[in-house]
Amino acid sequence: MTDSRPIRTWLRSGGAEVSIFCTVRRVLVVDDEENLRLVLRTLLRRHGYEVETAASGEAGLALVDSFGPDVVLTDVRMPKMGGLDLLETLRAKGNDATVIVMSAYGNMDMAIEAMKAGAYDYVQKPFKPDEVVLALRKAEERETLRRENRALRDEIRKEHRFEDILAKSARMQEIFRTIAKIADYKTTVLVTGESGTGKELVARAVHQRSSRRGGPFVAVNCGAIPEHLLESELFGHKKGAFTDAIQDRRGLFEEAHTGTLFLDEIGELPLALQVKLLRVLEDEKIRRVGEARDLQVDVRIVAATHRDLSAETKAGRFREDLFYRLNVLHILVPPLRERRDDVPLLIEHFVARNNNRLGTGIRGIDTEARRLLYEYAWPGNVRELENTIERAMVLAEGEQIVAADLSERIREARDPVQLQLASGELSVKKTMRVIEEILIRRALQKTKGNRTRAAEVLEISHRALLYKIKDYEITDL
Ligand SMILES: Nc1ncnc2c1ncn2[C@@H]1O[C@H](COP(=O)(O)OP(=O)(O)OP(=O)(O)O)[C@@H](O)[C@H]1O
Ligand SMILES: [Mg+2]
Repeated sequence: MTDSRPIRTWLRSGGAEVSIFCTVRRVLVVDDEENLRLVLRTLLRRHGYEVETAASGEAGLALVDSFGPDVVLTDVRMPKMGGLDLLETLRAKGNDATVIVMSAYGNMDMAIEAMKAGAYDYVQKPFKPDEVVLALRKAEERETLRRENRALRDEIRKEHRFEDILAKSARMQEIFRTIAKIADYKTTVLVTGESGTGKELVARAVHQRSSRRGGPFVAVNCGAIPEHLLESELFGHKKGAFTDAIQDRRGLFEEAHTGTLFLDEIGELPLALQVKLLRVLEDEKIRRVGEARDLQVDVRIVAATHRDLSAETKAGRFREDLFYRLNVLHILVPPLRERRDDVPLLIEHFVARNNNRLGTGIRGIDTEARRLLYEYAWPGNVRELENTIERAMVLAEGEQIVAADLSERIREARDPVQLQLASGELSVKKTMRVIEEILIRRALQKTKGNRTRAAEVLEISHRALLYKIKDYEITDL
């Protein structure tokens, strides 16, 4: 998808056409003059609209829920509830039907007032039939646009979501494609990445996208179970195999039969068990502790670790043969600071989710807080962002999250270059990239997007700058 393609074409290609092109059908006419109600009802029905009428603002309001009008055509001046009150009450109820007001010449100021309060249009009484129909046609156009926008937003949201993973950055989109491609093969998948980057979500997505989705997804944290219990936990045991084995017990491999077994923190697996795991991976047979027979299992393994397994192998803490056996397909989930494009999307997601869950009414984040969140290095990655947003929402006093609602760590950590250097990352290449991106963004901000000037300040060629802008996906200055 490119931005230059017309919305309609794009939506057609996305197949979302059907729901978009049915627009204004139902019109609710509210007026205290009986004759006018009759005239409008006849006129609009003749033009194919479904029409209901009400003689007062109150009666109109009572009809709104059951009738579900697309347009409310209301007189401004009525004995009790006028058109303006009706409009405000509708909005307070969260109803966003298009409102068109009708007003006599002497009441023009009220019509203008109504427009300011969000009415879409007004017609002046007395009117010719054409004028009302024309106003409705205009409203129809607007409604079409609104629906298109909504559909477009939904579509974008869909594109940025893969099972429970939300991301728009190119690197995560690549991961989405990889998962889709490999999900159905039974190959072992190794997911690596810093803490809180979403490794478990990736593992779950692999399961969900595979034909095993109907089977169980069993997760085990290899680092959390004491070494002497882990073997029986994984493979099960026979009654009497050891003191506490008072009855036969199935292990997690058996639990995960026909599904997926997620071996989290695989780097913590003791060496002795690494041998046993390798054997299972090779012939798909397990043996319960204390049992003489093998059992055949059908399990897809996804393993995850925040450690560098290849370094662990060199240090002798991880078996090389097991490493190769696990590393058939490797998915590296990048740290959040290397995919800052995902930050705004994740913020929006967490705010909406917490509003639902905590009953908070946060509507947005002010510019300063947004900038701090964007620039922070997120050593705890998405998990840290998730917690930060939740905390800020609880602390926020108004409907907006402001900088003061963020922890000192984030407010103080202003210099992203310093942060990158403090992150513990030792790769020259990665660090250079992060710093280069920061400098380019700064130069573009300083020159208000003038690329020629920015290239001069950066002391790189114009061509190099254009290439890098594309490479770093800098779109939002
Ligand atoms: N792309 C994402 N979209 C939505 N939520 C996310 C995303 N990435 C991570 N999260 C959320 O962040 C939290 C951490 O994710 P997850 O547990 O998958 O990370 P992890 O890499 O397994 O972390 P750890 O190494 O600490 O086990 C979870 O609450 C998860 O739902
Ligand atoms: Mg995890």
